[in-house]
Amino acid sequence: MRLTVIGTGYLGATHAICMAVMGHDVLGVDVDTTKIEKLASGQVPFFEPGLPELLSKALDSGRLRFTTSFAEAGAFGDVHFICVGTPQQADSEAADLTYVDAAVTVLAPYLRRRTLVVGKSTVPVGTAARLAGLLRELAPAGDEAELAWNPEFLREGFAVDDTMRPDRLVFGVTSAWAEERLRDAFEPVLAQDVPVKVTDLQTAELVKVAANSFLATKISYINAMAEICEATGADVHDLAEALAYDDRIGGRFLRPGLGFGGGCLPKDIRAFAYRAEELGVGQAVGFLREIDGINRRRRARTVDLVVEICGGDVAGKRVAALGAAFKPNSDDIRDAPALDVAERLRAAGATVVVYDPAALESARRAHPGLEYSTSALDAARGADVVVLLTEWNEFREIEPSAMAAVVRHRKIVDGRHALDPAGWRAAGWEYRALGRPTVA
Ligand code: UGA
Repeated sequence: MRLTVIGTGYLGATHAICMAVMGHDVLGVDVDTTKIEKLASGQVPFFEPGLPELLSKALDSGRLRFTTSFAEAGAFGDVHFICVGTPQQADSEAADLTYVDAAVTVLAPYLRRRTLVVGKSTVPVGTAARLAGLLRELAPAGDEAELAWNPEFLREGFAVDDTMRPDRLVFGVTSAWAEERLRDAFEPVLAQDVPVKVTDLQTAELVKVAANSFLATKISYINAMAEICEATGADVHDLAEALAYDDRIGGRFLRPGLGFGGGCLPKDIRAFAYRAEELGVGQAVGFLREIDGINRRRRARTVDLVVEICGGDVAGKRVAALGAAFKPNSDDIRDAPALDVAERLRAAGATVVVYDPAALESARRAHPGLEYSTSALDAARGADVVVLLTEWNEFREIEPSAMAAVVRHRKIVDGRHALDPAGWRAAGWEYRALGRPTVA
């Protein structure tokens, strides 16, 4: 099949590369010339394990090309996937649909034969129906240019696996023809017995935001329990483990700590709450604002704990911040809890030295007031306190005695519950983590 993928950011680049590897002829389209040139020359513009190798493979096979021309895209594709971003608006909690609207508006005039346009971006429910109308109006093919919705559930750091072997596929369609086209496009995935849910457009849009809201709720739930543990001396780590043995609850996304960040969960729950209010059913998901509030409090409480362990004031103190990315195996710093905490400590007068295995460059550009080191030990040199903010495996492997030899004071705040408290305490460290007893 001939597929175009419009928008070659995180989602689009991964989708285009994987679809080409699965045997389709794929054209990646973007308005950003630099991005297109990079991809065409075999460079993935972000950190994603396994993706650079697949990009080379796809380019070598001749099945993947890139362009900035929508005219070329319109003529080429049997199916067009829209993978552009829907960030939070600058002055409201609503999703910014500028890029999705632009993609459809610019592509439509080039659609002269029967074609399927498939939205993958995360959008407020109701967007697909509106875009379907826009497409009919603007495409020379008229009613023959159909719209479908196919939400994407990939996680950064696992993007290749999640695309090649997703938990499920969701097809929001308005005709049997559209369903058939999608089944053809995803044939290699469906051949692995991946379940597919075929539904209407609005349900397909909702599956995505409902899933991300559920995940955010699960994380904030355990972090709310951490607050209770902090007030009672109970241990949220043990609590989470004990809850997880119940299959109905399960342990995934039940890791307490600094909470969620990134380009998806925070903005998706806000946009969902906003959209529900627009629809007059805001009360139904009013709890999402509480979920957001619990999540924001984690950052403030982590800062408070660092201040406390420093004796009530961090002014003039040297803080080693381990981690900048919003989660491990990623260089993404969008709404990163780690950098938020680092900036708050700096605002309180501390000198904050950051180390991250993948996100140093982007962090340095976005947060020039922080200092940076090229290793965890280097960042910890002379530190009054070490704060673990992103749970990279590399940090789990730090030898407490090796780090003890370079710091000024052996004090560590484990913002992600990633370290073994007993091992660190045995090496003479004052180990603290929110929701865990002060002394084991
Ligand atoms: C999330 C969803 O997991 C994907 O299914 C979805 O496709 C994606 O958003 C999206 O909408 O595009 P992602 O943002 O890559 O994926 O990251 P997650 O792995 O979900 O982690 C989100 C945040 O939650 C991270 O900051 C992580 O550190 C935090 N987290 C996760 C916890 O604090 N505790 C946990 O138990 C799990």
